[in-house]
Amino acid sequence: MSQNTPNRMPEVAVKAASSTASYYERHVFFCVNERKPHEDCCAQHQAMQAFEQCKSLVKAAGLAGPGQVRVNKAGCLDRCAAGPVAVVYPEAVWYSYVDAHDIEEIVTSHLKNGQIVTRLLTPPEAGR
Ligand code: FES
Repeated sequence: MSQNTPNRMPEVAVKAASSTASYYERHVFFCVNERKPHEDCCAQHQAMQAFEQCKSLVKAAGLAGPGQVRVNKAGCLDRCAAGPVAVVYPEAVWYSYVDAHDIEEIVTSHLKNGQIVTRLLTPPEAGR
């Protein structure tokens, strides 16, 4: 770099910092994968209903939108053995839920108040 070349590092650093800022504070992905009849999958355990419930609760709580929470459907997350599962980012917290009460607790405790629901954590070794 010559003495006449402007130093662009500060501008580059600003762009890098802004590109790493999270558009959503938290992003939740529900596996709603459906396999052939008689093949186990999250869809057979009311995953779509759980996704819809979570989305509704987040919206009703005023948590939905940029800078807050986004709830999305996902295909197989490859943790089927612990399904139905959902994962919350940026913390990368995996949940194995059973019923509507579990979804309410995830929304109220984790998505609203930032407290992980430890009783619903997916076992770390659970895979496909
Ligand atoms: S079917 Fe849901 S994690 Fe694989």
